[in-house]
Amino acid sequence: MRHYLQFKDFSHDEYKYLFKRAAVLKQKLRAGELYQPLVGRVLAMIFEKSSTRTRVSFEAGMAQLGGHAMFMASKDTQLGRGEPIEDVAQVISRMTDIVMVRTFEQSIIERFAENSRVPVINGLTNEYHPCQIMADIFTYEERHGSIEGKTVAWIGDSNNVSRTWLQAAKIFNFKLKLACPSGYEMTVLDGLEYGKDIFEQYRNPFEAAHGADIVTTDVSVSMGYERETLQRKKDFLNYRVTEKLMAEAGKDAVFLHCLPAHRGEEVDPEVIDGPQSLVWDEAENRMHTQKAVIEYLLLGEIKG
Ligand code: CP
Ligand code: NVA
Repeated sequence: MRHYLQFKDFSHDEYKYLFKRAAVLKQKLRAGELYQPLVGRVLAMIFEKSSTRTRVSFEAGMAQLGGHAMFMASKDTQLGRGEPIEDVAQVISRMTDIVMVRTFEQSIIERFAENSRVPVINGLTNEYHPCQIMADIFTYEERHGSIEGKTVAWIGDSNNVSRTWLQAAKIFNFKLKLACPSGYEMTVLDGLEYGKDIFEQYRNPFEAAHGADIVTTDVSVSMGYERETLQRKKDFLNYRVTEKLMAEAGKDAVFLHCLPAHRGEEVDPEVIDGPQSLVWDEAENRMHTQKAVIEYLLLGEIKG
């Protein structure tokens, strides 16, 4: 049994397979072909934080595969009243086939997984958001081919999304250039080595964006960090993706954002709603790539 708790839990070969499968599943759906290998299977989804995309993409994807998805907001379950996560994992994993968890510390999902009889997927923690970056790379490669050797410029917070880009850079062999204000530098939590060929940090967003193939950003106040809102809004004022910043990257560069976006804060409307933006494909591809992951974790590799 496998879990998907961090981006590095799958190998490069596995991602290659998953992307091929995601493209097949996307094509089947577009063609109106019913493909329901998971009839009778149940996905439990535990949300300790808000969500639009993650909930809809998992729930719709599971239904399309013939299974059922069960939404649980932790505040409406006994988890919200202090039931230990280990006990919740024991119980839920005896009644369902696969579980997605969105929570706070990575250690919570790890404890859940240790006590689960079924595969567990990370739907976002404070530290990582693996499903997001899988969809992001799939989206880039769908249009522009392999991401290997390319440059990704991250403008903004060193958060769950950028930390996942970092793990992806090592696996897919591209370079991550991160620009953030002083005091918000990336801390590597996975004990892996990231050389200068894979990762460099900058203060100046224009230096990070120079010649990049992908420019990407995220909210400056992630869920769970609301108490820091005032300070962060001030600190991140100069870390907005503008048309000028996109021009520094070049006309072939694409813009990605995991969403939800805050126009006029981390990105200007002209960029996110402009011709270089792939954000709607990116959001849709959450569903196709996650379907491939669910299928893989439950049924293994599908031949042909
Ligand atoms: N990108 C993302 O995970 O969006 P949600 O918070 O809406 O799920
Ligand atoms: N970094 C953001 C991502 C939201 C999808 C957060 O954790 O709130």
